[in-house]
Amino acid sequence: MSGQDTRELIFRQLQAKGQASGQELAEYAGVSRNAVWKHIHKLQQQGYPVQSLSGRGYLLHPAPDLLLPLQIRAGLKTRFLGREIICRSEAESTQALIRSLASNQASEGLLVLAERQLAGRGRLGRSWSSPAGNIYLSCLLRPAIELFKTPQIPLLAGVAVARALNLHLGLHCRLKWPNDLLWQGKKLGGILAEVSAEADQVQYLILGLGLNVNAGLQELSPEVRDLATSLGLILQQQVPRVPLLQQILTSLEEIYRQYLSQGFSGIREAWLQLSCTLGRQVEFYQEGALLSGLAQDLDHAGGLQVRLASDKTITLQAGDISFV
Ligand code: BTN
Repeated sequence: MSGQDTRELIFRQLQAKGQASGQELAEYAGVSRNAVWKHIHKLQQQGYPVQSLSGRGYLLHPAPDLLLPLQIRAGLKTRFLGREIICRSEAESTQALIRSLASNQASEGLLVLAERQLAGRGRLGRSWSSPAGNIYLSCLLRPAIELFKTPQIPLLAGVAVARALNLHLGLHCRLKWPNDLLWQGKKLGGILAEVSAEADQVQYLILGLGLNVNAGLQELSPEVRDLATSLGLILQQQVPRVPLLQQILTSLEEIYRQYLSQGFSGIREAWLQLSCTLGRQVEFYQEGALLSGLAQDLDHAGGLQVRLASDKTITLQAGDISFV
């Protein structure tokens, strides 16, 4: 058994009992008391709230709402998403961190989380305000699809997250094309997909999610503050992030597997149900010109069809729209 597995065993036993002696943990994990002490020390270094009680063993304090691998994995039902988790108290950007691992053959489903980001990245080169208390995650996917289909992945991720929030918290979140999560018109979260491809075949895709959960809006940067909302604000209470994250991962894996086996059409239907985009007047830039029109449909590749005032219909493959 690896050191990590032994550590997980010790942690699970402490989780079940709350408090346990070194001897009991040693017997349970089949290691020496000294080895238990070393594993406990490692857990403490990783941020787990384990206290050493002199002569009386160890105590696991009821979990504060920290995103830590063993807490997230406890009861997580996914098959591959989040089987390996890296959590940092601080990162420049989880996208950048996971990319260095992705190019080193990391497995599909690897998850990287940070309590806060110093240089969080948003879509279209924007920054993503990342104070502590929210969810910032990146996961590694290796879909065997052609490059032109990659815009479908963030759309399916939007569906997965909106479903998880709506089911788990009873909200009515909506999706603004391509993949903003909105609640009553305010931005609750965003999704960023970064692709690495060779010829026209995807090698890997890094899916990033930033979700405003418990951080106060005054902690967000002034440019986004007035346009944003958070789960804590909507529900008027602190929202436990671990079960929420587990729901999101479960939903994401389910929809991703559906996509791989059945293609985009079912996802498209689900996206249409959750969208607040169609039927709205929208504005967007194309080749430097500001255009506006009626958002009419989502095509079968994930592009947004917009009917311009001239009656011409164009399809946006990527970019951003604003509601008029
Ligand atoms: C958007 O612009 O709407 C997308 C924002 C995506 C932010 C997330 S937070 C976790 C991951 N790491 C990053 O640096 N960005 C994404």
